[in-house]
Amino acid sequence: MSVLSGKNILLGVTAGIAAYKSAFLVRLLVKAGAQVKVVMTPSAKEFVTPLTLSTLSKNEVFSSFTNDEDENAQWNNHVELALWADLFVIAPATANTLSKMAHGTSDNLLLACYLSAKCPVYYAPAMDLDMYKHPSTKQTFETLDSFGNIRIPAEHGELASGLVGEGRMAEPETIIAFLEDAIKRTLPLRGKKVVITAGPTYEAIDPVRFIGNHSSGKMGYAIAEAAVKLGAEVILISGPSSLSVNEKRLTLVKVTSAEEMYNETHSHFDSCDIAILSAAVADYRPKQVSTQKIKKAAGPLTLSLEKTDDILASLGARKKRQFLVGFALETENELENAKTKLKKKNLDLIVLNSLNDEGAGFSKDTNKVTLVSKDNKVLPFSVKPKTEVANDILQYIIEQLHA
Ligand code: CTP
Repeated sequence: MSVLSGKNILLGVTAGIAAYKSAFLVRLLVKAGAQVKVVMTPSAKEFVTPLTLSTLSKNEVFSSFTNDEDENAQWNNHVELALWADLFVIAPATANTLSKMAHGTSDNLLLACYLSAKCPVYYAPAMDLDMYKHPSTKQTFETLDSFGNIRIPAEHGELASGLVGEGRMAEPETIIAFLEDAIKRTLPLRGKKVVITAGPTYEAIDPVRFIGNHSSGKMGYAIAEAAVKLGAEVILISGPSSLSVNEKRLTLVKVTSAEEMYNETHSHFDSCDIAILSAAVADYRPKQVSTQKIKKAAGPLTLSLEKTDDILASLGARKKRQFLVGFALETENELENAKTKLKKKNLDLIVLNSLNDEGAGFSKDTNKVTLVSKDNKVLPFSVKPKTEVANDILQYIIEQLHA
């Protein structure tokens, strides 16, 4: 999944011939999963039609402060548009618009949006080679750099004038790659390796039967996906689950039993920075696993169980620099039990679920958690979708890593 997925992107289109490429850019942004709104300078409409861009973006296109043809004209709120945006990308950015941006001129809606924007602003210059080389353009770039705006460098090639040189707007694919790269570099978990356990474990009784539990793996999978989005490299060690993931920076290791989960988790632990153990690991397994299917007999059947190794506690005993997170599913004396587990297993954080809370539990899409930190800070959250709970947990870890 692209890091642009779910982002609100305001695309500014100015009056250069490269504006025809904006249509492709909108398509690629939408394909990457972004919400796109387009703001154009009035003259840009001579190069590409608002209808094309609104059809591709599936949103209204804005180009003036009011809708001129409508006598009940409403004001197009540049502040709202600018604040809606997670990213403002101006492509193509002409010499004229760039110069106005550098000097704070606000004589069209696009420039008013620029001045109101609080999000990162990217611009892809597009102009003829001599304009691109001109000292005033260079000065403009320097001024915009000093404002923190980010230039997507123009490319070398044939220009609309027929001349060959630097000044061509970067190709839409290059702009997308540039944006993705820039976002990845600012992600808070970039360079971090996160090990996550998820789902139930199945402990074999015989070749066809097992002891298991109702865990769906939803919480752990949500944390894994959220961690990837925040820039981490993730090893997801999952017990049997019907869920699937397809992320480039995520390795899914499928296991069945607590013992397999133990071995896989330990083999990845030394090289990881954060370990989050959300799996519902079986605490007991049959002492003996029958190699043949156990036949029905007249009397009752007694299974002798032995304890599984506690993965979380064993990591707590071993950890050096890792930030270790455990889960606690409790039905009584919740906070007290969670605090005891945190201490006993040498954790940095414990995520407490109470089965007494509505909206919390195994197969649900929501959860209600309370975070308890090593220094006994207690942070309760409301019932939320597991995807949001995942982000709450990771944001808390990120804050702790930077504290
Ligand atoms: N856990 C583990 N390995 C086990 C059992 C549990 O890693 N063999 C982890 C779980 O992934 C979870 C945490 O330990 O992060 C808490 O599990 P829980 O079952 O709530 O607690 P227990 O310590 O097993 O105690 P009890 O079942 O008595 O509440």
